Amino acid sequence: MLAGEQGEAVQLAMEILTKVGDIYGAEKMIKIASAHTVMTPYRDIMDAGVEICEKFAELGAKYSVPTTLDPAGMDLQRWRELKIPEDYAEKQMRIVRAQEKLGGIPVWTCTPYLHGNIPMPGQHLGWSESSAVVFANSVMGARTNRLTAVVDMAAGITGRVPKFGLHLDENRQGKILVKINVKPKTLTDTDYPAIGYFIGKQVADKIPVLTGIPRSVSIDQLKNMGAAMAASGSVALYHIPGVTPEAKNVDKSFQKKEWEDTVELGMRELKQTKEEMCTVRAGEVDFITVGCPHYSIMEIRKLATLLKNKKIHKRTKFWIYTTRHVEMLAKRAGYSSIIEASGAQILTETCMLVSPTDIYGFKTLMTDSGKCACYAPALCKTEVVYGSFKDCVETAIKGSLQ
Ligand code: F3S
Repeated sequence: MLAGEQGEAVQLAMEILTKVGDIYGAEKMIKIASAHTVMTPYRDIMDAGVEICEKFAELGAKYSVPTTLDPAGMDLQRWRELKIPEDYAEKQMRIVRAQEKLGGIPVWTCTPYLHGNIPMPGQHLGWSESSAVVFANSVMGARTNRLTAVVDMAAGITGRVPKFGLHLDENRQGKILVKINVKPKTLTDTDYPAIGYFIGKQVADKIPVLTGIPRSVSIDQLKNMGAAMAASGSVALYHIPGVTPEAKNVDKSFQKKEWEDTVELGMRELKQTKEEMCTVRAGEVDFITVGCPHYSIMEIRKLATLLKNKKIHKRTKFWIYTTRHVEMLAKRAGYSSIIEASGAQILTETCMLVSPTDIYGFKTLMTDSGKCACYAPALCKTEVVYGSFKDCVETAIKGSLQ
C-alpha cells in the first residue's frame, strides 16, 4: 500500500497511518473490522476538510471496510426550513457527495453501533467520535483508539490502523477504582450523564473501573454516561465488571489487582455535579434540545409519552436529534405525530453541536445530555441548564425554569 501498488489514494492513506504509528511507537499495522469517520460536519472540518474529502474522492479512494458516517453539519432534509445559509449548505453537500463517492455508509449518526456498525468483542476498529469509541470499547468489548478526523478516513480506506494504545492488552487494564455509593435502585436516567461527567473530570484519560452500577443498566444509560465521560475527560474505555465483556470482576479489571487511586461518588457529589453542569438556575429558556448522542427509538418513545396532549411554550424551540432511521420508526409508531402536535420537532442526521445553532441567537439551552451540557456554552454560545428529559418537557411547556 505504501509503495503505491494499490493506487495513489491508498498510498496517501497509508502514509498518514504510518506517520501516526511512528508518533505512537506502533510496531505494525493491524486489520480492522470497520471504521467510523467524523469527516462529516462542515461546521467542524471547514474548507480544509471539504478539500481532503474531495481529494480522496478524486483519487478514486473507496472504503475497503464498512465505514459509517458521523452526523452532518445540518439536517440534510430540512436545512432550508431551518434557514441554514446557502453557502454553508453548499459546502456541506460537497462533503456529502465526496463521502458517497468513497462508499461511506450514510447513517449520519454518532451511534453507529445502533445502526448496523455493530462490532464483536475483541474486534479491532478504526473509529473516531468519542462517544462511539467509549461505547465500542467499554460495552461491546471491541478495540479502538480515539482516532481523529482524516486518520479515520485513512483507516477506512486501507482497512488498517497502527497497533498501539487500546489495541494492546496491557493498555486496557483499569487504573482508577470508582465507587458509586448511591443505592443502585435509585439511579435514574438523569443520574448517568452526571456520573459520566463527574468521572471524566476526576480521571481525565485514565481507565476507570466502576462499582455500584446495577446489572439492569440500559444501553441508553450507558450510551449517555460514556458520552459525558468522554467529553468532560477523555476517557476511551471504562470497565463495569459484569457488563464490560473483558471485565469479569473487579480484580480482573486491574493489573495485579492494584489501582492508582480510588474515587468515591455519593449523593452529595451527584447533586454537586448536576449543579456544576448548569451555568444558570432561573429564568426563561428558549432552546430545549435532547438527543446527544442521538436518541434511540426507546428514548423517543419515552418523550412522546410525556409530550402527549401537551403544548410547548411559544418562545421555546424543542429540537430532538436522531437518525433518519429512528425518525422513520417514530413515524410508523405514531410517536412523531404526538411530538409534532406539541410543537417539538424531530431533526435528523445532525445535532445541536455540529450544526450552526449559534445563528439563531438562543440565550439559554436546556438539555438532558452531559456531553451537550459540557460543550454548549462554547459551541452554541448559550447559558446551559442540565436536567432530566422530564424536566426538559416541563420547562418547555412553561418556557422558563420557574
Ligand atoms: Fe452525537 Fe452531536 Fe452529541 S455528534 S454525541 S449528538 S455532539
